[in-house]
Amino acid sequence: MSEVTLKDIRKSFDGLEIIKGVNLEIETGEFVVFVGPSGCGKSTLLRLISGLEDIGSGSITIAGRDVTRVPPSQRGVSMVFQSYALFPHMSVAQNMSFGLRLAKVPKKEIERKVAEAAEVLQITHLLDRKPKQLSGGQRQRVAIGRSIIRNPNVFLFDEPLSNLDAALRVQMRVEISRLHQEIKTTMIYVTHDQVEAMTLADKIVVLNEGRIEQVGTPMELYRRPANRFVAEFIGTPKMNLFDTELVVPQGGSALVSFGSALIPVDDRVAHLQPGASLSLGLRPENLELGSAADPTTAEARIELVEKLGGESMLHAHFPGSKDLFVVNVAGEAAVRPGETVHIKPDPDACYLFDGNGRAIGQS
Ligand SMILES: Nc1ncnc2c1ncn2[C@@H]1O[C@H](COP(=O)(O)OP(=O)(O)O)[C@@H](O)[C@H]1O
Ligand SMILES: [Mg+2]
Repeated sequence: MSEVTLKDIRKSFDGLEIIKGVNLEIETGEFVVFVGPSGCGKSTLLRLISGLEDIGSGSITIAGRDVTRVPPSQRGVSMVFQSYALFPHMSVAQNMSFGLRLAKVPKKEIERKVAEAAEVLQITHLLDRKPKQLSGGQRQRVAIGRSIIRNPNVFLFDEPLSNLDAALRVQMRVEISRLHQEIKTTMIYVTHDQVEAMTLADKIVVLNEGRIEQVGTPMELYRRPANRFVAEFIGTPKMNLFDTELVVPQGGSALVSFGSALIPVDDRVAHLQPGASLSLGLRPENLELGSAADPTTAEARIELVEKLGGESMLHAHFPGSKDLFVVNVAGEAAVRPGETVHIKPDPDACYLFDGNGRAIGQS
């Protein structure tokens, strides 16, 4: 069953349309991540779902009920923000139970719910502490606990880990994943960080300028991006893109140029004329160092070598071009800046995009 349905959602601020017709189905129990660059409308869309913001037009259904005009407190959703907004003078237990106490829920029931949520989040030993006696990660856990005890149909998270340092972010990411596996409640999670999206999501929704670019599982988006925007947004380091054109030798099959090399492309391009301009996309992990004798390699000059330990990132450019592209090689690369090398693309991992940035066929 679908838990949340968005139908042609639009929202303007001061006459400027920010959300430009969003349609989306979210299944019960799904972990959905909204990802996109800063300012693309992720928080606005989440606030429209929560009811904190009134929608311009369209409709929202949650758990089979049209909630388009229903106030936030009655939508069965609970939101966790980037800033935890805990009350400093209250203990962890009091912070967590605040909403239930306001709603005059019986004391015994509140105690039971706080104890359960604290156990799931492993903060039972912190229940009597004040927020200032907690680390950033512990505070974020309390904020999540405050949501859990409201027993919502849908959790809404708006960049909950952005205020934490890198190591803690990774740890909390794992914990949020574990939490979802344990409680299995539908979650909608907003982030600008595509790694967070890839690692947490059952389903990723890529947003750009108030529109959905593509919806899919992490690996669907990685393997079959619908357009250049998604291709560049999903995957680190990002996909390299080269301006190229279609070459069809007399009686031969289609090729595209990659620097000084020509790469065969399959019948994806059968409908295109020779000379058609295309973008060729190759992920850093689909390029490797090859030999000069191999005609499918292109000559390039190394500009920078980043050694990350288990792998190295080579930043290189073709002769006569200043545009850098990245090659990801395993281990410690035995090349130096200034060196001329030969780069071999994996012909089965080529992405092609037309002049409008739309993917041509599938890789
Ligand atoms: N209350 C508001 N009034 C006017 N403009 C707003 C308001 N909320 C958001 N915006 C604008 O809408 C756009 C999208 O904002 P937001 O949803 O916060 O983006 P994101 O969360 O993806 O970074 C931005 O240009 C922002 O300035
Ligand atoms: Mg935001």
